[in-house]
Amino acid sequence: MTALAEATASLDKMGYLDIEVDPTVDLVAEIQRLKKEKNAVILAHYYQESEIQDVADYIGDSLGLSQQAAKTEADIIVFAGVHFMAETAKILSPSKKVLLPDLKAGCSLADSCPPPLFRKFKEKYPNHVVVSYINCTAELKTLTDICCTSTNAVHIIESIPKDQPIIFAPDINLGKYLIKKTGRDMVLWNGACMVHEIFSAEKIAKLRARHPEAKFIAHPECEPHILETADFIGSTTGLLKYTINSDAKEFIVATEAGILHQMQLKSPDKTFIPAPPNNTCACNECPHMKRNTMEKLYICMEYELPEIILPDWVIEQGRASIDRMLEVSEKAGLNKD
Ligand code: 13P
Ligand code: SF4
Repeated sequence: MTALAEATASLDKMGYLDIEVDPTVDLVAEIQRLKKEKNAVILAHYYQESEIQDVADYIGDSLGLSQQAAKTEADIIVFAGVHFMAETAKILSPSKKVLLPDLKAGCSLADSCPPPLFRKFKEKYPNHVVVSYINCTAELKTLTDICCTSTNAVHIIESIPKDQPIIFAPDINLGKYLIKKTGRDMVLWNGACMVHEIFSAEKIAKLRARHPEAKFIAHPECEPHILETADFIGSTTGLLKYTINSDAKEFIVATEAGILHQMQLKSPDKTFIPAPPNNTCACNECPHMKRNTMEKLYICMEYELPEIILPDWVIEQGRASIDRMLEVSEKAGLNKD
């Protein structure tokens, strides 16, 4: 049984998974009360549902969330995001209690790179430095020399000497984008994000024909043929900043649709259109991110469960790769809000 399955079984056994919230409860007021009472901070990713973003203390991308987790003075970090993000917070603040409203909020990209398989892969390239996108498990971070996020990936690759060969894991699309951007020849792990692989180039082209003034903006986790046609490519923070600073009034956005909430709040006079997926489902919503709900957030803060627990060796060995990433980002003056 995996550690995650064991933790879920134990929650089930204690009846935690059956707790129901009285529908008349004012969730916003209760969550605010619990924050104060417990000296808790809510860190939320841009892909969370809008109500969760509105109640959070900090909303940001993976780099910003890591920076906040490293410096917070709260006793409890409530992570409104997915499992690898909460693990990263625990690695950065091991003495704090880190809670994730739904333990099953995983990540297809992190799952696409199982550490035992990656260890074997890495053995084939003994002279390579391993750069891992932060969207990977804590255990994978123990096999990593330096992490990156989509905001700092170019800086991280450029901080490595030019003659040093690199393995990049787990996102093949981000890896290909970085090869193009930096001119570095990297060995790529073949992983991908289920949300960013779903966009349809044909439907985007039709949408652009109907909205000729719209800028098409995309996250670098998208496939190369989608990125090729983009007016701008960036992390969630990068995309958000672009929409704020651009003179354009319409944007077609190829990333998880949760980011549209902040885009609309920051630019109420502009129009944001989610890029269409290649079928009729709402596949540009991340099913993992959307496992978190206001009810689960409230119960999690009330009972201080589920808690992220990591073995000491994972915290010790995983930390170096994240610290290196934060140092390079600090020097480059990235995020820091
Ligand atoms: P960023 O917010 O760092 O761009 O990451 C996007 C993502 O896929 C998070 O799961
Ligand atoms: Fe993982 Fe993709 Fe969801 Fe981000 S959007 S958590 S990379 S599956």
